[in-house]
Amino acid sequence: MDYKKIIANMTLEEKALELSQVAAADIIQDADAVVTGISHSGVPREQLGEIGSVLNFSGIEAAKKIRSAPFVKKDNPLLLMQDVVHGYKTVYPLNIAIGGTFDLELAEACAEMSAIEAKANGVNVTFAPMVDLVRDARWGRVNESTGEDPYLNGLMGRASVRGYHKGGIACCVKHFAAYGAAESGRDYNTTDISDHALKEYYLKSYLECLKENPEMVMTSFNLLNGIPMNGHTELLVDLLRGQEKFDGVVISDYGGISEMIAHGYAEDLKECARIAANNEIDIDMCSLAYAKYLPELVREGKVSEEKVNRMVERVLRLKDKLGLYENASAGISEERDKTYCLSREAREIARRAAEDGSVLLENNGILPLKKDANVCLIGPYAESRELMGEWACLGKTENVVSVKKGIEKLTGKSVPSVAACSAQWNAADESGLAEALRVAEKSEIIIVCMGEYCKESGESHSRSNIELAALQVKLLHKLKETGKKIVLVLFAGRPLALTEVVPLVDAVLFCWHPGIEGGNAVANLLYGTVNPNGKITMSFPRSVGQCPVYYNCFSTGRPKHNDTYENACFTSRYIDELNAPLYPFGYGLSYTKFELKDMRLSVSTMRRGESVTVSATLKNIGNRAGREVVQLYIRDKFGSCARPVKELKGFCKIALAAGEQTQVRFKISEETLAYFTASGEYKAETGDFEVMLGTNSRDVLKTDLRLLDREL
Ligand code: BGC
Repeated sequence: MDYKKIIANMTLEEKALELSQVAAADIIQDADAVVTGISHSGVPREQLGEIGSVLNFSGIEAAKKIRSAPFVKKDNPLLLMQDVVHGYKTVYPLNIAIGGTFDLELAEACAEMSAIEAKANGVNVTFAPMVDLVRDARWGRVNESTGEDPYLNGLMGRASVRGYHKGGIACCVKHFAAYGAAESGRDYNTTDISDHALKEYYLKSYLECLKENPEMVMTSFNLLNGIPMNGHTELLVDLLRGQEKFDGVVISDYGGISEMIAHGYAEDLKECARIAANNEIDIDMCSLAYAKYLPELVREGKVSEEKVNRMVERVLRLKDKLGLYENASAGISEERDKTYCLSREAREIARRAAEDGSVLLENNGILPLKKDANVCLIGPYAESRELMGEWACLGKTENVVSVKKGIEKLTGKSVPSVAACSAQWNAADESGLAEALRVAEKSEIIIVCMGEYCKESGESHSRSNIELAALQVKLLHKLKETGKKIVLVLFAGRPLALTEVVPLVDAVLFCWHPGIEGGNAVANLLYGTVNPNGKITMSFPRSVGQCPVYYNCFSTGRPKHNDTYENACFTSRYIDELNAPLYPFGYGLSYTKFELKDMRLSVSTMRRGESVTVSATLKNIGNRAGREVVQLYIRDKFGSCARPVKELKGFCKIALAAGEQTQVRFKISEETLAYFTASGEYKAETGDFEVMLGTNSRDVLKTDLRLLDREL
């Protein structure tokens, strides 16, 4: 493919449109109409055909319409992009749940199946994986990430990239960079992060994903240290293009280029275009800055044509890689759509992911339920099919299995159920509570299905209060007064502060928004067909005032060693709250019990260039088979920069039959101990380390390791 030749034949106006993205709806609406005037997104209709890419459309018919629109160029077909974030028609659980499976193969399988479905429907590129590091549960988009650990996020992101590639579509790592650090958890808000913290925590997952060669990277909306990311030369040009040699397509987020005006960084749209182009953002998503001003900027010498050509070449290369020049409609296939979308295999993966991503937070022994237990279902999620979560893509509620359906199928009996109230945060209608209490009185165990309404997390849905909605808490108190046993099944798109409600119930199963197979997964977990094995990958705060709270934090100079309410003046503490979260990163219970013991290092002193093995015995000491995630944490006790109290460095998920035991082993090398030291160099520093193994980040076995220089 002679890109240079194609580019040489393009006018500046054509190049600018090639680098512009508009909503797919624009082309679809105009496909049969007279092609004059201004389109919905502001592009003159005569120019729509030159647009290089469109985003978000609703499946095969829409894709065909776009491809066949008479005015759309056929010799240089446009790219169809879409947010396939946790599924396409088969909707998988939220990514925060997929992270909690600690199962990279499963994460890859979810991405692969999503890609197969999306491709059959005409999608060329997905805007995923989202690998932002998230520490603040107030932020609505924590559900799109795999959590608060950079190492896990990097591995999960890589697994997704592999999956999308296997399924035959290109992908886009986002949101570069540090979008998840929005101040006060309010979406789009400022981030201010030291160089050290950027390298050490915030950039890692994006850069890790680059190892799998994703085709695209998306810039984020936020200011970073005073510079909007769409103008951040240091990260976009020096780091991403320079140091990392990323030569794929960089795209802005939706309207992000024009938002530099509101940031107070660029005076007008033309200036926005100049800044973004000079930072080699190849595609302008929906702000039309390039379409309107790029040719003029080149003519004025403010953006070099050579740079624009390079940007165009990157887009053309992507089209070529996807085979669009041979056949623009190649992937589109009704037959494959029928075969794969919502197939048994896809549903099976969705169910497994929902099961393995749900987390048993509490259980006083009431779970698993017996099939003949006299139960009822109370709460807004009892019969609801709104289980898909933020990016439901083309998922339809009619394809979702509700909790009621799942339980009735599993037990073979009908189960009485009452929604009682809405799940919305400000729900006030109490008229359903009386009926709920009447039904509850007739059963022995109340399964309460509550949580956060599915549209109350996600983009632009930050919350200042992350407790269960007041009316739901009221309902729980009333149910508690019946004296019945209560199993609380929670659905949410973020960690919730559950301190008030946990004492009211006998068990808590936290299911995030579990996707279309949610009801079957919940039934399997509640009745023990599947043993819970999911972990949380964000700390669950006791109260919102603790946010941001995360396990890989630093010690203060005045640490509070005993985290109780006792007077500990002049230590780092709250007078009205403990420091620790309610549930720590990596936590999740099972119906069996695991014991981790006999931790050993192969040697306790290691020299540079050597490695050691840390091992322990994991034993299933309960009476049923189960799976457990053993987690390796390290603390560098003293460094040229202070190091976090612990950091995840490895994990493995192990299945054991009742009574069975096994040895778990992790290798520790210099790489495991390395970090960006005070001099900026990435290396391990000699000295003392703490090595920890646990089944969550709080309860760990510890041993000491010393790293020495090589012997002379
Ligand atoms: C979101 C992105 C998304 C894009 C396109 C934006 O508002 O921040 O994550 O990919 O829209 O839909």
